[in-house]
Amino acid sequence: MRFAGRVAVVTGAAHGLGLDAARGFAREGAHVLLVDRDPAGAQAAAELRAEGHDARFHSADVTDAAQVAAYVAAALEAWGAIHCFFNNAGIEGHVRPLVEQEDAVFDAVMAVNVRGVYLGLKHVLPVMLAQGAGAVVNTASTAALGGSAGIAPYVASKHAVLGLTRSVAGEVARQGVRVNAVCPGPAATRMIASLEEQAAARGINDAPDRYRNAIPMGRYVTPDEVTATVLFLCSDAASGITGAHLQVDGGRTACPGGSALR
Ligand SMILES: NC(=O)c1ccc[n+]([C@@H]2O[C@H](COP(=O)([O-])OP(=O)(O)OC[C@H]3O[C@@H](n4cnc5c(N)ncnc54)[C@H](O)[C@@H]3O)[C@@H](O)[C@H]2O)c1
Repeated sequence: MRFAGRVAVVTGAAHGLGLDAARGFAREGAHVLLVDRDPAGAQAAAELRAEGHDARFHSADVTDAAQVAAYVAAALEAWGAIHCFFNNAGIEGHVRPLVEQEDAVFDAVMAVNVRGVYLGLKHVLPVMLAQGAGAVVNTASTAALGGSAGIAPYVASKHAVLGLTRSVAGEVARQGVRVNAVCPGPAATRMIASLEEQAAARGINDAPDRYRNAIPMGRYVTPDEVTATVLFLCSDAASGITGAHLQVDGGRTACPGGSALR
């Protein structure tokens, strides 16, 4: 119960990694605000309440400043503080070479993955600074650490998330607030399935094999493996860590050749 009595706000909490982390925070005692534009988050919060946890859903589009201010206000109204913030909502965009990308899709990826993270930081950090304490984890990706042909807008957006993380960590470090990033490799959620389906539609039918062959562990990571890292970075055990990124990627970035010569 590392988060007993603490308040956690999770964006992109209706599905995938955000949902798993919201469950993780709740099951370790936190009051949890699940934020998502998908109303399915309400059901997720209800299920957590049925388990005896304190969870609420707040509908918001993270690209809209007023809606971001409103989810921060909702957490404060409910519990009076925000101790942990998992700034996680993201979209993948389209799989295709840059010269074929649609400008509107590029803009949408940047809006959610960069502006959404920026706005979350902008509105949550003043609360944490006033408290003199708080921990933020932004969801980057292994796509923040190198190129990936076919998803350049997504890769660019995740590089930006690391830039925000590192810069802001330096701005708030003396005031008791830590800002880190988690870099999942391919994880078993809707997003990776979408990338695989888009690749298949372009005639790349072995995308899952290509991904797995590039991962020394030979498998996708699971949402609970990402959650474990997010909760660690938000916990007191990580009190000396800020501005860092932690890969949860089965060794993909450490050994990009995967298991080629094993
Ligand atoms: N799954 C992977 O392989 C993987 C790997 C690395 C990083 N990531 C990152 O992890 C994060 C979560 O992805 P996921 O795999 O859980 O995907 P997902 O699609 O399962 O979940 C994303 C959630 O974000 C929400 N969302 C999207 N746009 C939003 C907006 N504008 N406002 C509010 N909510 C919004 C969606 O409704 C959804 O609930 C993303 O930032 C993604 O880029 C995922």
